[in-house]
Amino acid sequence: MCGIVGYVGRPKSLEVLLGGLRRLEYRGYDSAGVAIITEEGELVTRKRAGKLQVLVDDLAAEPLTDGSTGIGHTRWATHGGPTDVNAHPHLSRDGKLALIHNGIIENFAELRAELLADGYTFESETDTEVAAKLLGREYEAGGGLAAALGRVVVRLEGAFTLLALHRDEPLVVVGARRNSPLVIGLGDGENFLGSDVAAFVEHTQRAVAIGQDQIVTITPDSVLVTDFFGTRVIPSEFQVSWDASAAEKGGWSSFMAKEISEQPEAVANTLRTRIHHDRIELPELAGLEEALTDIDRIVIIACGTASYAGMLGKYALEKWARIPVEVQLSHEFRYSEPVLTPRTLVVSISQSGETMDTLMAVKYAIEAGAATLSICNTQGATIARESDAVIYTHAGPEVAVASTKAFVAQIAALYLFGLHLARVRGTLSAPAIAEALEELSGIPAKLEQVLLTSTRIQELAKWMSDSRAVLFLGRHVGYPVALEGALKLKELAYIHAEGFAAGELKHGPIALIEPGQPVFVIVPSPRDPNSLHAKVVSNIQEIRARGARILAVAEQGDAAVLPFADEVIPIPLAGALFEPLLAVVPLQIFAMELATAKGLDVDQPRNLAKSVTVE
Ligand code: M6R
Repeated sequence: MCGIVGYVGRPKSLEVLLGGLRRLEYRGYDSAGVAIITEEGELVTRKRAGKLQVLVDDLAAEPLTDGSTGIGHTRWATHGGPTDVNAHPHLSRDGKLALIHNGIIENFAELRAELLADGYTFESETDTEVAAKLLGREYEAGGGLAAALGRVVVRLEGAFTLLALHRDEPLVVVGARRNSPLVIGLGDGENFLGSDVAAFVEHTQRAVAIGQDQIVTITPDSVLVTDFFGTRVIPSEFQVSWDASAAEKGGWSSFMAKEISEQPEAVANTLRTRIHHDRIELPELAGLEEALTDIDRIVIIACGTASYAGMLGKYALEKWARIPVEVQLSHEFRYSEPVLTPRTLVVSISQSGETMDTLMAVKYAIEAGAATLSICNTQGATIARESDAVIYTHAGPEVAVASTKAFVAQIAALYLFGLHLARVRGTLSAPAIAEALEELSGIPAKLEQVLLTSTRIQELAKWMSDSRAVLFLGRHVGYPVALEGALKLKELAYIHAEGFAAGELKHGPIALIEPGQPVFVIVPSPRDPNSLHAKVVSNIQEIRARGARILAVAEQGDAAVLPFADEVIPIPLAGALFEPLLAVVPLQIFAMELATAKGLDVDQPRNLAKSVTVE
């Protein structure tokens, strides 16, 4: 969850570290800190509880001497609250070494006890300080910083990325990773390390992903990657496909507002190069082609918003490819002793590609012999690298904690995959595939139309800013949309919100309806072949009779809804499976506007972080 930056090169570390931390702050934002080796060879540090700006203001009031080597950290607290003392970096006993950490060291209590017995004392409550003290002790044993780190990491259990520097090796930063991300940025006379490429993309677009259980040593002119035991590894370089401006707000009031507006482009980019007239080209599935002809079942694993994309994928895959699909939350998956065979395809969905729950579920699936495919937005992410194949959603960097454009891009990627599988399995005719592809290709233009309704939604959100609870209802593909609408409202506006399958209401939740209760209803098209429209209109009448205030998201021109809704938010005509891509947008805007009306930070909601790299 935390953001990590390392730099070695010219005497401008502070600028590089703070710039990188600003771009990584979405990963965690309850405290921040830096450590620098000055040109005079001193190790200086500063760390503060609160958002990065607190540290920046502190550094402005009382400047820190700059240098050519530094590490920086922005934290999402695990062990110990968000205080100055618990913030990273943490120091070795002699104060010559500084260390930052992302992840959780599960055996920290045992290691701490060992150090206490050895006469060490601790200032903080963190597992990180244990690693810092341990590394300091190993450094004293000789062999240099990288070798000492190697001896420490083999003793650690859990997930971690560690970066460290030592004042006796003034132009060196070392890093190590296990189940937690770390990427190298290659510069000219300078090199970078980051939790993701956003840390250094304004300086270089040349990147190298570090594999599992590897150690990296950077100096201004060299990069060395080894395994934990010092054996050299030759990693592969990749080019970052977006530039620094893509991760800037660019005049928008928030990253979330910008990312909502980028949804037409996000879907178009996910489809671009993959649809050729009536054909789908997914060369990235080459390694899976044989498996795809043989699979008898699909299990989709994901968390949060990505899991709702997965639910939509289930409807599409079962309808088009006629294969049983189940969707499981990643963190429940491996504890349910799932039945997996070589004929099971496990599809993981993750924007970050680093969500620990999903990564662990993918590893479990691999060990059980299942074929694995990931749908991922972040180039070179761990989940993508672990899987047999990856379909990248080319949504561009998603910085706001609340997922928006990644969600619609995930749905588009799942639908592409579903149509591809239908062709491989012969379950859809060529004209039917062509028709679905045409519909999918039309989504970006329809998303543009939906975005035009945002002013009205903004007004609604303002009126409703003192709501205490909001309910969301949907049937079939409208149900995951209802869940997503509720999640957005919870995480951004801190309002109690629940999504229900509309048919489930009468089995209990209808008791929640009281006069004035706002209920968003996702109304299927009146042209829906399953005749769900009439059923949802009946559900609307049932709750309206009990005083609910109805906010209907319905196809434009749907006259049957008008008499019963207090407000109708129109979406363009689309086939049933494609409606969610449009219907979710007003709900995203509503949550963002309501949070804004309450004066909340929509990009960095309380208690959350963008990339959930702990289990
Ligand atoms: O990076 P991932 O897609 O794996 O993240 C999964 C969830 O943590 C994420 O979708 C989360 O629910 C969002 N904050 C929702 O807006």
